Amino acid sequence: MAKLTIDDLDLKSKKVLVRVDFNVPIKNGVIGDDNRMVAALPTIKHIIEQGGKAILFSHLGRVKTEEDKKELTLRPVAEHLAELLNKPVTFVPATRGAQLEDAINNMNDGDVLLVENTRFEDLDGKKESGNDPELGKYWASLGDVFVNDAFGTAHRKHASNVGISEAMKAAGKKAAAGYLLEKEIKFLGNAVDNPAHPFVAILGGAKVSDKIGVINHLIDKADKIIVGGGMTYTFYAAKGIKIGKSLVEEDKIDLAKEIMDKAGDKLVLPVDNVCATNFKNDAPSKIFEGDIEDGYMALDIGPKSVELFKNVLKDAKTVVWNGPMGVFEMPNFAKGTLEIGKFLGTLTDATTIVGGGDSTAAVKKLGVADKLTHISTGGGASLEYLEGKTLPGIAAVSDK
Ligand code: 3PG
Repeated sequence: MAKLTIDDLDLKSKKVLVRVDFNVPIKNGVIGDDNRMVAALPTIKHIIEQGGKAILFSHLGRVKTEEDKKELTLRPVAEHLAELLNKPVTFVPATRGAQLEDAINNMNDGDVLLVENTRFEDLDGKKESGNDPELGKYWASLGDVFVNDAFGTAHRKHASNVGISEAMKAAGKKAAAGYLLEKEIKFLGNAVDNPAHPFVAILGGAKVSDKIGVINHLIDKADKIIVGGGMTYTFYAAKGIKIGKSLVEEDKIDLAKEIMDKAGDKLVLPVDNVCATNFKNDAPSKIFEGDIEDGYMALDIGPKSVELFKNVLKDAKTVVWNGPMGVFEMPNFAKGTLEIGKFLGTLTDATTIVGGGDSTAAVKKLGVADKLTHISTGGGASLEYLEGKTLPGIAAVSDK
């Protein structure tokens, strides 16, 4: 069923509670990749333009001890957000109580406020991560409407996304999807449930076990499933191809056989691999077609595989990519991932979608992100979406 969106809400002079995912990398108070923050700007700017009061909630990292609070405060995020918005952002170093309530009551129309890391509530009995109903109800009581724009957190059932939504609805108020959530659902949802064909999925990364849910869900929907990265060699082992000292999940070899039987020629595996003697960028390397010599480990797909994959991809109308083709963090083993990313950028007739933390990091590092149709802000969330799971954060938003 279609969900209520921010465009369905009257925001003028309203206290708009917004769940964003500002779980961004921070080192010594400096934000690394701010993509998630930038992606939330359309929703925040819309609230400002409509004369609403934007009260933002986010988690940051995992808070386990009092000590963690120093590293995991959202204060630097509030400062960076003020720069991005080019306007002041009030930071409240509390997740509840008079200080927060007073700050909200003092807001003018168009103001923006960021609440401290919602997971600070986890120190007192996992109230945020355990979706404590009292906490969701309290946060909901602070606003007139709720907007969930935290796609990256949509696979979590926490007080600041699901709890607030449920409490708002129980109080007769609305919980709507923000622009980012809407956009993610549109791209990932269409790709999986209503793809233009040929639909090709590219799955990489280290483990078959991480991707089995996605493979099972896409096996009947995709026209081809390209496999690359470390998980390849469990498939090789299942085919009886020698893998040297490449990564393998011994206990998933039977599963790999089952997948190959079911998928038939839908499944496309690399035909050659760049292999090294050690897991090091400058380790001596060699390309092997088929069998990999003892003493070598595969760290990237080889040039013939790149050509094979390009050939499969060239007529695609929908491509979903999750997981790198090799150890792209090491320049000598980044080529396969780079070539595939670059090629996707040339498919101007296709919708090209990247989901998952590693593949997103890869396309950004390799400078091909702006050539693709959609880069998901969700790591775990996009993976679960591609597995066909119902994400609790989305489910809890009001229906239209
Ligand atoms: C993410 O980075 O995947 C989300 O922000 C969720 O974070 P979590 O895995 O700590 O719940």
